[in-house]
Amino acid sequence: MRTKIIAGNWKMYKTVQEAIELVSGLKRELTAFSGVEVVVCPPFLALDAVSDLLTGHEIKLGAQNLFWEKEGAFTGEVSGHMLKSLGVTYVIIGHSERRQYFGETNETVNKRLKAALANGLLPIVCVGENLQERESNRTFDVVRDHVTGSLAGMSKEDMLKTVIAYEPVWAIGTGKTATAAQAQEVHRFIRQTLASLFDQPTANAVRIQYGGSVKSENTAELTAQPDIDGALVGGASLKADSFAAIVKNTVK
Ligand code: PGA
Repeated sequence: MRTKIIAGNWKMYKTVQEAIELVSGLKRELTAFSGVEVVVCPPFLALDAVSDLLTGHEIKLGAQNLFWEKEGAFTGEVSGHMLKSLGVTYVIIGHSERRQYFGETNETVNKRLKAALANGLLPIVCVGENLQERESNRTFDVVRDHVTGSLAGMSKEDMLKTVIAYEPVWAIGTGKTATAAQAQEVHRFIRQTLASLFDQPTANAVRIQYGGSVKSENTAELTAQPDIDGALVGGASLKADSFAAIVKNTVK
């Protein structure tokens, strides 16, 4: 049985004070939830304050990126070791915005993934095609390339700790969600790819989230699909009520 996982990716939104307000609101809205894992991923600057607020709470803390070295002369970077020391549990890796604007490739995703695992962090690895790739019928090729390249050299044991997020780039922040059938088709394909890279039991155990304009209204239909194990939520995670509604509408 795969436990559904709903993660909020706050991207570059929220000052520390605003992050405190949002998490306080979430704690009020989500007093009791079961059968679903909930994660919030604030910007680096707010991790410390949010970590304090989440002490003893079921909501888990995630970061949005990490660098692969432990420490050193890497101006502007944050290491897995530093994140772990703040009580971070999850880390998003290879988000399409990082692939698009910051030169992230499958190779650098793979390095970050290994660094996350080496530091005891649980990775959420993002994959997904853009509009042009979908329209030229290259979705499966692109997704296979992202999955295979990003996960290169991983053990089965590490794969079981890793979450995949399928995020079609054309659905991110656009209000254009993939239909449940479109998403399910790619999720099934990702699971088949995992089975060929690892084995069927490993593929069956890995959680695959959908991301791209998820909101409370489409959560139930998406999360009812057999291979969709939750959601990575951007815009709708920035308000306590809309994020809490997504958690509540997740089909267990
Ligand atoms: P969105 O973002 O929910 O605003 O489309 C999703 C994401 O980028 O993870």
